[in-house]
Amino acid sequence: MRKKIIAGNWKMNKLPNETIEFIEELAPLIKNTENEVVICAPYIDLFYALLTVQGTNIKIGAQNMHFEEKGAYTGEVSGEMLKSIGVEYVIIGHSARRQYYDETDKAVNEKLKKALSIGLKPIVCVGENLEQRENGKAKEIVTTQTKLALEGINGENAKKTIIAYEPIWAIGTGKTATKEDANETIKWIREEIEKIYGKDIADCVIIQYGGSVKSTNAKDLFTMPDIDGGLIGGASLNAQEFANIINYNK
Ligand code: PGA
Repeated sequence: MRKKIIAGNWKMNKLPNETIEFIEELAPLIKNTENEVVICAPYIDLFYALLTVQGTNIKIGAQNMHFEEKGAYTGEVSGEMLKSIGVEYVIIGHSARRQYYDETDKAVNEKLKKALSIGLKPIVCVGENLEQRENGKAKEIVTTQTKLALEGINGENAKKTIIAYEPIWAIGTGKTATKEDANETIKWIREEIEKIYGKDIADCVIIQYGGSVKSTNAKDLFTMPDIDGGLIGGASLNAQEFANIINYNK
C-alpha cells in the first residue's frame, strides 16, 4: 500500500509569525491522521516552521532549491542548506518555476539528482497546459516530463521520488481535473515509470494530484486507486481547510 502524502504549497505567502500561528492551529486538528503531512513554506519561514512542528506529525519542505552545493549563485539556496536546518522535502519543477523562471527539464533533472543524493525527499511536478490537454497532448507532455526528470536516476532513487501531477489549467483556477481524468493521467505517468524501471518500482512511486484541491473534492480525488494524496496550494493557507483535506478519510 502506498502512503498518501498531503503537502501544502504555500507559494509566496505567510510571514514567520503567521507560519507559527498556522502550525499551532493545524497540529491538534490533524494529530490522528495516518497520512503524511507536509508544509512547503517560503525559505524565510522554514526555520520558524521547523521549530514549531517539533513534537507534531507535520513535516517541512521547501519550494525550490539550487542543484549546486555552493558558489556564486546570487539569491539561490542549495539543497545542502535546506538539509542542514532539518528540511525534509523539496518541491522541484513546479509549473510556476517552469513558466516564470524558465526552469527546464534538464534543471529539474539536476535538482532531482542533487536532492536524492543528500536525502531530501523530492516532489517533482509535471503537468500539461490547457491547449495541450485540448489537443490531446497531455499524455505525451506528462510522460516526457517524467522521463526527462528521471534521466540517469537508478531504481532505488526513483522509488524515493514523489511525483505531483498538476495540470496547469487547474492550478489556482478553481477548475479541478475530474477524478477519472486525474487518475488516468497518473496511470500514464506510472506506466512510463514502469517502462523504465519495471512494475515493482512503478507500484511503489507516490504520485499526487494537484490543482484546485479543496476539502469538498479531496475525498473524491484521493480515494481513486492511483492518486496518492495531493499538492495543495490555495486551500493549504487556511489551517481548518487544510486540516479538512488531510482528514478526508476520517
Ligand atoms: P492550487 O495550487 O491548489 O491553488 O490550485 C496547487 C499548486 O500549485 O501546487
